[in-house]
Amino acid sequence: MIPKPATQADLAAMASVHAQAFDAPWDEAGMATMFSGAGTYAFISVDADPSGMVLCRVIGGEAEVLTLAVPPWTRRRGVGVALMDAAMVEARARGAAVMFLEVDVGNAAAVTLYERLGFARAGLRKAYYDRGANGRADALVMRLDLTSAPR
Ligand SMILES: CC(C)(COP(=O)(O)OP(=O)(O)OC[C@H]1O[C@@H](n2cnc3c(N)ncnc32)[C@H](O)[C@@H]1OP(=O)(O)O)[C@@H](O)C(=O)NCCC(=O)NCCS
Repeated sequence: MIPKPATQADLAAMASVHAQAFDAPWDEAGMATMFSGAGTYAFISVDADPSGMVLCRVIGGEAEVLTLAVPPWTRRRGVGVALMDAAMVEARARGAAVMFLEVDVGNAAAVTLYERLGFARAGLRKAYYDRGANGRADALVMRLDLTSAPR
């Protein structure tokens, strides 16, 4: 499974993957809005079905991971890491020296994945996520130096 650069034709598949991975997903229109933003790019992986997506942007030498999603049926098979590897290569190609992301502080799967890739904890945004009936959750800000990252 090698992630491929996503195009407008992949928006429905990206939204489908997102819906399987998040409680409050972006629908196809929301995905299209995010994808059309300045400096934005995405990768999608396809197995028998779409098996993962990552959406990022590079502005002013800084990359940001906007979302990363892998459906439950294909987790722990390296799809998340493969998508992030592709995203980091593309960020460097677009001139980014650093990559940032926000992740729910309680999302152990994602935090472990990002730390494995070399991301370090850079800050905490209190009550950043609205979890509806579950209240609000803090976001961990994570940072990767793309010039010295191990991969
Ligand atoms: C986080 C997520 C993208 C991981 O995708 P994935 O394809 O399963 O990740 P990988 O198979 O590449 O895992 C790479 C490593 O991350 C860590 N990891 C992944 N899932 C984990 C889990 N549930 N618990 C602990 N560590 C985990 C492990 O170190 C893993 O390596 P290993 O399987 O050799 O132990 C996926 O679980 C997901 O989409 N979750 C819901 C959405 C989300 O949280 N997105 C990211 C936040 S923005």
